[in-house]
Amino acid sequence: MTPFAKAIIDWQKVHGRHDLPWQNTNDPYAIWVSEIMLQQTQVTAVIGYYDRFMRRFPDIATLSLATQEEVLQYWSGLGYYSRARNLHHAAQKIIDDFHGVFPQDFNDILTLPGIGRSTAAAISTFAFNQPMPILDGNVKRVFARHFLIEGWPGLPKIEQQMWDIAHRENPTKEAVAYTQGLMDMGATLCTRSRPRCSDCPVQASCQAFGQVRVNRLPTSKPKKALPERHCVMLVYYLAGEVLLERRANTGIWGGLWSFPEAEEVPENAEKLPAFTHTFTHFKLHIQPVMISGITPPDKPNTLWLTPDEALQAAIPTPIRKILLCLPYAR
Ligand code: ADE
Repeated sequence: MTPFAKAIIDWQKVHGRHDLPWQNTNDPYAIWVSEIMLQQTQVTAVIGYYDRFMRRFPDIATLSLATQEEVLQYWSGLGYYSRARNLHHAAQKIIDDFHGVFPQDFNDILTLPGIGRSTAAAISTFAFNQPMPILDGNVKRVFARHFLIEGWPGLPKIEQQMWDIAHRENPTKEAVAYTQGLMDMGATLCTRSRPRCSDCPVQASCQAFGQVRVNRLPTSKPKKALPERHCVMLVYYLAGEVLLERRANTGIWGGLWSFPEAEEVPENAEKLPAFTHTFTHFKLHIQPVMISGITPPDKPNTLWLTPDEALQAAIPTPIRKILLCLPYAR
């Protein structure tokens, strides 16, 4: 057994969770339901749902005979509803393909809808005491920090490195305590924000702790390149005043004053310097153009202001930029 596994097991026995409703049982059905509910959902949110679900659907046969409507009713509010549909289908598959008995073979467990490698491993370990390594989001965080794995864990290469660690560290003895301990550490100590390193049983060997990089790991998902949009802003200029238009209350700059916009540069327009404004979710390339000496068609929600007055109004930053570079302003 590795020193890491030993430390996790010793910690679990004293500080881990021992009285969750799905612990202290070997019933693969009870463990399966809990593992599905616990996918991307915290223990505190699951407990009430779990108790109600297990009272109504106490075994595989009962679940298989229920309507999908009723299964979803018991899942209502828990989210990720494909989990409930898969659970229901899997119960029917166990009846049809495995004589109604939850399969013990790891590869058979993997054939059930909604059960991936990590969930199959948790069931195999907890229900059948057949140790198999798990790797869920919490465990990835523990591994990324303790073994200093850099790179977003969603990348296949990084995930493979973590599976290798999961295999290497997984003990053959006391695998239940180890597996539960990893889950409990990830949920209660090695949390994403404000981890409690002072209480961690593997702090001394944690590479991220040693390098003061706990808060930088695991590496977050790479930000996608922002979508880009283009617009032309029309600066009507007449007798020392510009035309502003009040934007709709919804969408970007809701309720603010802005220049009227167009898709294309009009023929009679004079280009002003173009620039780019970056929002959280997209980039906006703005081409301001000046249209002088022409009265635009009457538009609702518009106002003529001198550039100085406009600078005092409720305008977004790009409008301020344009006003400040007008040849006549200030
Ligand atoms: N998260 C996933 N499986 C769990 C379990 N068995 N106990 C606590 N949290 C979990």
